[in-house]
Amino acid sequence: MRPPGAQTLRVLPTAEAVAEAVAERLVEALARNPELVLALPTGRTPLLLYRHLVALHREGRVSFSRATAFQLDELLGLAPDHPARFAAYLTRHLFQHVDLAQERIQRLDGAAADPEAECARYEDALAAAGGLDVALLGIGDNGHVAFNEPGPTLQARAHVAVLARQTREANAGLFAGEPSHVPTHALTLGMAALLQAREVHLVATGASKADILRAALRGPLTPQVPASFLQLHPRLSVWLDTAALGQNEAALS
Ligand code: PGA
Repeated sequence: MRPPGAQTLRVLPTAEAVAEAVAERLVEALARNPELVLALPTGRTPLLLYRHLVALHREGRVSFSRATAFQLDELLGLAPDHPARFAAYLTRHLFQHVDLAQERIQRLDGAAADPEAECARYEDALAAAGGLDVALLGIGDNGHVAFNEPGPTLQARAHVAVLARQTREANAGLFAGEPSHVPTHALTLGMAALLQAREVHLVATGASKADILRAALRGPLTPQVPASFLQLHPRLSVWLDTAALGQNEAALS
């Protein structure tokens, strides 16, 4: 079954090769448009990618000096100095090593007194930046993209999300392995920001992602698998290692 949108599927032998290829793709995009507006994910998957981007920056092959970066999502209710904040992750793994201008780093404030107002502020900041040129996304084991979690409906705009049990388990590593210590809520860009991005790059590595990828990329569009809506995107690139492709070769080719 062909997907309804225009998907480019790239399968590389290892997670390392995926990271290298996506990093090169971003270097090209930044060379073409130094004022690129990016949405950036956290989690395990992008770690290698950020390592490559930092190395390429050190080699003088890429500059972020005129680019804008939006954090995709953030855990709600952590103290501003909590090391598990996704903002801290992005600083640690990317921002502190490259030349992004502080004023063009857009962070969701997970300690905001009024989270709804914080989401509205973030939408305004995104609109002021002209929307996303590139949304770089991972996929949760439950099919979430950013923290657009499975449920009866999806939300277009930035919002406060209730985290799925599976998501809290997946993030337990940030909280000494204890899912109950993971915040119950998060802030996230909504589906519209992702679907309106001029390019979407979905990156998934490892065998544990094979089943959800099949559902997301070839299954019916359903809010129970939020990533399935990416099938509608006119410029979706999917980057997998062979482990994430798993037994899906026939279904995805
Ligand atoms: P992961 O997270 O990269 O740690 O697997 C992906 C996601 O939840 O979007």
